[in-house]
Amino acid sequence: MRNFSEPTLREARRIIHDAQRIAVLTGSGMSSESGVPTFRDAQTGLWEKYSPEQLATRDAMANQPALVWSWMLHQARVMRSVTPHEGHTTLGRWQKHLIDTGGSLDIITQNIDDLHERADAEVLAHLHGTTFTFRCFECNAPSDYELEDATEEQLEARPELDQLVLEDPPNCRDCHGGYIRPDIVMFGEFLPQRAMDDALEAVRVADVALVVGTSNIVQPAASLPIVASAAGAKVIEINPSETPLSQDADVYINGTARTILPELYSQ
Ligand code: APR
Repeated sequence: MRNFSEPTLREARRIIHDAQRIAVLTGSGMSSESGVPTFRDAQTGLWEKYSPEQLATRDAMANQPALVWSWMLHQARVMRSVTPHEGHTTLGRWQKHLIDTGGSLDIITQNIDDLHERADAEVLAHLHGTTFTFRCFECNAPSDYELEDATEEQLEARPELDQLVLEDPPNCRDCHGGYIRPDIVMFGEFLPQRAMDDALEAVRVADVALVVGTSNIVQPAASLPIVASAAGAKVIEINPSETPLSQDADVYINGTARTILPELYSQ
């Protein structure tokens, strides 16, 4: 059943038709139909005890390193095991088409997975880092730690049901005392400056900001559609649930990334 309205879709297509520069802002809902759970949809088990804001922090890593490391490792294993969906591949084709015709499609993501890249799309900015490279929690030295392919058992463990097998993070080889952590941005940490600068530049020059699968509550990413709109871009949001942005978006499409993106761009 289609739960988005045709007139809404037509309006979005009309806006997109004339756009040469598109900024696409993605959040965890972009990856959910590939099989990566979103952060705030799960409210059971682990999430009854800890919110992402409590678990993905420096304090939590310092006080409960095994829990935080095992959770992050689990996320990374799941992200590596899944594959991009039609929404991702659509963005890859769309980006190529716009570049070939003198335009641009800049992908700015809060996601720490590599699903856009595996669908042949280049990501301009990974605002919250990426989960497949590692560094030291203490001295920041890059680590050569490599994520091994997960076993079936590891992949099937459900953190929301407390099924994670806890393991301590490995130690840094440079400073010896520090724990290894993924190269992601934890709550309370600064975003990579270059990624944020690139994102701001992209939304300021965009004709359209396409906001897909984010709850639009985590700053500073949530401010990017507002910056885009203030600079003259039309804002189109794709999300099966309304967010704080929906009322202000030029078009809000009540649907999912996998269904709607191919509907918007079908070449
Ligand atoms: N298609 C589009 N949107 C979807 C889909 C889907 N298939 N499934 C869920 N969504 C929407 C949800 O309705 C929700 O609004 O995706 C959004 C996911 O919101 P969050 O879980 O809050 O994820 P996100 O906005 O990416 O979180 C931002 O918070 O925990 C941190 O650093 C983490 O990058 C993350 C940041």
